[in-house]
Amino acid sequence: MIFFDSHAHLCDEAFDEDREEVIQKCFDSDVKFITEIGYSEETSKKAVELANKYETIFAVVGAHPDECNKDINLSYIRELAQNKKVVAIGEIGLDYHYDNLNKENQKKYFVEQIKIANELNLPISIHSRDADMDMLEILKQNKINAGFIMHCFSSSVEVAKEIIKLDGYISISGTVTFKNAKNVVEVVKIVPEDRLLIETDCPYLAPQAYRGKRNDPSYVIETAKKVAELREKTLEEIAEITMGNTMRIYKI
Ligand code: NI
Repeated sequence: MIFFDSHAHLCDEAFDEDREEVIQKCFDSDVKFITEIGYSEETSKKAVELANKYETIFAVVGAHPDECNKDINLSYIRELAQNKKVVAIGEIGLDYHYDNLNKENQKKYFVEQIKIANELNLPISIHSRDADMDMLEILKQNKINAGFIMHCFSSSVEVAKEIIKLDGYISISGTVTFKNAKNVVEVVKIVPEDRLLIETDCPYLAPQAYRGKRNDPSYVIETAKKVAELREKTLEEIAEITMGNTMRIYKI
């Protein structure tokens, strides 16, 4: 049984003391593949460096919506994407959660990064928070040629259905294991088998059994167990399904 954590932030300072040990712990468990996600120029560079060190770690580069409330230069994305371990552009999108946002800038840079991904024929890892309507509108107006993943999906079943219609993949994080999980539990049940991914988004969002602690890619198995229970499948089946889907969207 092999698992793929489709969305991790191992370059986060939370792992500065023991990054190599954590990665070894994951490889010693059944989590053999990881995608390291950048969200700024600095973290995108680090993601590529990490991916170059480990055969089964891949990198995603881009500018997160939190970065896009100010004016920024996206030229680093094209440069970094020349590296063959870069498998997608991300995490990019819209985040309307906090105050002092610049929604127009967020939308502008999101669309610009979709264009870069299309130019490079790469898929996109999307972050969307409190922005369902604008997100769906942009996705309907801007076709993403190589496909896209809605990372850490937290919207409603209705939004999930729209995403699936647009050929998107839905990635489930440890939030599905939380005692108060509602939407995401229903979403897991309706995602077509060939559209389902799992992730940790570590060091954030540790699953219920480790809640409040630092998350790491080995805990993606907790999410897989919950998904297996909800879909009435075995853990082996969920490992195989999500592994195949992650390899397909990232073209690994
Ligand atoms: Ni993330």
